[in-house]
Amino acid sequence: MTGAMQDQVAIITGSSRGIGKAAALALAAEGASVVINYARSSTAADEVVAEITEVGGSAIALQADVSKEDQVDALIKGTMEKFGRIDVLVNNAGITRDTLLLRMKPDAWQAVIDLNLTGVFLCTRAVAKIMLKQRSGRIINISSVAGLMGNPGQANYSAAKAGVIGFTKTVAKEMAARGVTVNAVAPGFIETDMTSELSNTEEILKFIPLGRYGQASEVAGLIRFLAADPAAAYITGQVMNVDGGMVM
Ligand SMILES: NC(=O)c1ccc[n+]([C@@H]2O[C@H](COP(=O)([O-])OP(=O)(O)OC[C@H]3O[C@@H](n4cnc5c(N)ncnc54)[C@H](OP(=O)(O)O)[C@@H]3O)[C@@H](O)[C@H]2O)c1
Repeated sequence: MTGAMQDQVAIITGSSRGIGKAAALALAAEGASVVINYARSSTAADEVVAEITEVGGSAIALQADVSKEDQVDALIKGTMEKFGRIDVLVNNAGITRDTLLLRMKPDAWQAVIDLNLTGVFLCTRAVAKIMLKQRSGRIINISSVAGLMGNPGQANYSAAKAGVIGFTKTVAKEMAARGVTVNAVAPGFIETDMTSELSNTEEILKFIPLGRYGQASEVAGLIRFLAADPAAAYITGQVMNVDGGMVM
């Protein structure tokens, strides 16, 4: 552990697996106390907590569907009761319900907007009060290259992820005067459960100059920089890609 985030507290939504898990491990390695949030699988979340505490880190698992206001409130309350402050929020929880526009049912549209966009709003609004009072905080929203360039079959997902970018810029402007930074990270194709069922890998690789999928730890590296590094204090309202060169 480096101790760069000693006495700091980070909530990472959707951190029982994938990018969120990698981010939680990275922030815990900097000495932060981390909240492992999940919606369904407590087993996976408990394993992340164990992985952190076994090496002397501090972590708790809290269940909350972050698309629901009452559950977000309970997540923030539970964090404050346990740790007493919140320094970093990583809005990472996300889902896909892919299908072409003409086949997309309103429930597939709504489910993705509810979690990937409204969830970001609900969690950010809930921690904003605490961070503004503290006069410090770092919020990192996980968008996607799909929000920048579009992607067939992902009208719902790319709309939500583009929305996250607009939201990030506005909230960055609103919170800057109180020392709170707000940035977005836009991953390309990262090897996680979310991408494990894609069948057109060969096609996708043609569009990635670095010629491979990214690793969750590579996205977590940027999240760690934005959350922990003193140099990141002067970066706000930005969108940073981790995509092997897909969008440039
Ligand atoms: N993988 C990629 O290539 C890629 C590319 C661009 C952007 N992203 C974005 O990066 C983020 C993480 O993606 P990933 O690939 O790591 O996903 P993942 O492996 O599918 O993991 C998703 C995580 O979110 C949690 N989650 C799902 N629904 C939730 C809800 N309603 N409330 C709280 N937590 C919930 C899951 O927990 P449960 O299992 O308990 O539900 C799990 O911990 C997402 O926002 C995604 O859109 C991913």
